[in-house]
Amino acid sequence: MKNIILLGPPGAGKGTQADLICDLFDIPKISTGDMLREAVASGSELGIKVSEILDSGALVSDEIIGSLIEDRLTKPDCVNGSLFDGVPRTIGQAEQLAAMGIDFTHVIEIQVADEIIVNRMSGRRVHPGSGKNYHIEFNPPMNEGIDDDTGEPLIQREDDKPETVLKRLNVYQEQTKPLTDFYMNLSNSGTLKFIKVDGSDSVENVFKSISDNL
Ligand code: AP5
Repeated sequence: MKNIILLGPPGAGKGTQADLICDLFDIPKISTGDMLREAVASGSELGIKVSEILDSGALVSDEIIGSLIEDRLTKPDCVNGSLFDGVPRTIGQAEQLAAMGIDFTHVIEIQVADEIIVNRMSGRRVHPGSGKNYHIEFNPPMNEGIDDDTGEPLIQREDDKPETVLKRLNVYQEQTKPLTDFYMNLSNSGTLKFIKVDGSDSVENVFKSISDNL
């Protein structure tokens, strides 16, 4: 059983590494970012509620995230564990997940400097259906602007504008970074393994550093 959290600033490569880790262990990716974007695309009540928050780079409430996760964990594909991509994002969310009885086995922090992140975001392209990420230079699709798996068009995310990326980096430092100490303390008491990796290396090398430690 592997329950893994991926921590790291926006653009650190969490989504990219999440897909590789999920394939390796045959576990599902639980990405609250993907779930919220799907809600916006579907025009659901939740989507209408969170659309502006996502575009602004702020966080949606812990209450909304808690109920999305609780619902997702009832699906049968989670029986052998899950990969939590971009969640928890606040101490409050970490406490909610603990209260749901999830035994986390690993927390991976992907570390990348802010300058690299702003550059990565401007070149990111996403397949809206699956959430699969590409980069026009560092991780391009086989055919420009087209998803490798479905042949559908790729898009640029609304929150990847440079000014919104800077806001998201600030939000990360203020609200999410404290989680490293939170999980480091659990690691020191032997409850889980905390893994730090240098995310500025190539996609392949970052994945090797992660998989060697899992
Ligand atoms: P979310 O979708 O989770 O965004 P994020 O955490 O800001 O992270 P990103 O998806 O932007 O980046 P990533 O680390 O996954 O990097 P990626 O692999 O794409 O959240 C979006 C919004 O939803 C939030 O702002 C918030 O409003 C809301 N939200 C979501 N979860 C929430 C929660 N729990 N609580 C409250 N609100 C929540 O890589 C980036 C680019 O770099 C890609 O182009 C990729 O191809 C490229 N790349 C990746 N790795 C490398 C590499 N090693 N070298 C070169 N290029 C690389």
